Amino acid sequence: MTRHPRKIIIDTDPGQDDAVAILLALASPEDVEVLGITAVAGNVPLPLTERNARIICELADKPETLVFAGCDRPLQRALVTAEHVHGKTGLDGPQLADPVMPLQALHGVDFIIETLRREPAHTVTLCPLGPLTNIATALQRAPDITARIQQIVLMGGAYFEVGNITPAAEFNIYVDPQAADIVFKSGVPLVVMPLDVTHKVLTNRKRIEAFRALGTEPGRMVAEWTDFFERFDMQKYGSEGAPLHDPCVIAYLIRPELFQGRHINVQIETMSELTMGMTVADWWGVTKRPANALFIGSVDADGFFALLTDRIARL
Ligand code: RIB
Ligand code: CA
Repeated sequence: MTRHPRKIIIDTDPGQDDAVAILLALASPEDVEVLGITAVAGNVPLPLTERNARIICELADKPETLVFAGCDRPLQRALVTAEHVHGKTGLDGPQLADPVMPLQALHGVDFIIETLRREPAHTVTLCPLGPLTNIATALQRAPDITARIQQIVLMGGAYFEVGNITPAAEFNIYVDPQAADIVFKSGVPLVVMPLDVTHKVLTNRKRIEAFRALGTEPGRMVAEWTDFFERFDMQKYGSEGAPLHDPCVIAYLIRPELFQGRHINVQIETMSELTMGMTVADWWGVTKRPANALFIGSVDADGFFALLTDRIARL
């Protein structure tokens, strides 16, 4: 039986780890068909995240990829960015030329809505790698698309690993907790890659040198991005390297068997400033709240990096 690639829309706030996720997707046409990439404000403001998304597509030699600019701020709260992690440009590390490929004129949210209405129901997966503003806006503006989405596989949240931007919250959820609340209550099948699993795919010298040893421009870029990106986590956690958060989403689509988790109830804190954006994950089933997400807790890290290096080598 011939396998068909999954149709996906990547929603992203590049970000070095977003960049590696996008490269993994563009290097894997037999597994994923990237219908488009929608940029959102997050790690850095929208003008930079949409620019960075185009730079990454050109690095993958896929300048025909459709890249759209989405929302430039969260639904209600002021934008919080993460230059302290990703640098001023969001892709600090190597020197990068301005992109030549065009930005699409259509708003990213309209692209999400139109694509879901056009493609057969349950054939498109949304892959948010940043704050959920674009996704929530699309669900609010076009409730009819909710039943047409095959799955939302997102990077965000934390439970045992607790927060990385506040003691309680992970960055993507913290930036737009109201958007996350809409997505987690939508009823769309969710797969969540929280810090609990992404902090188990840490770069180290050997893994970074494997990218550099590819001898290709993408390999060199990934090595330089992770060299830059890892210093924040190494200082903060004393860890050996940086967690490659966002590539977990794409790796799951390609090799789900690398990951393990539980179907549980996950709700978002949107009232208390103290715990704003916390993903309250009922991992032990202490409530009767219905499961709404496959919450991933573990991964075969060596298998993850082998897949990543193999696929980046193709570009
Ligand atoms: O907390 C990690 C997440 O926040 C990742 O998606 C990273 O790119 C930033 O967006
Ligand atoms: Ca991201």
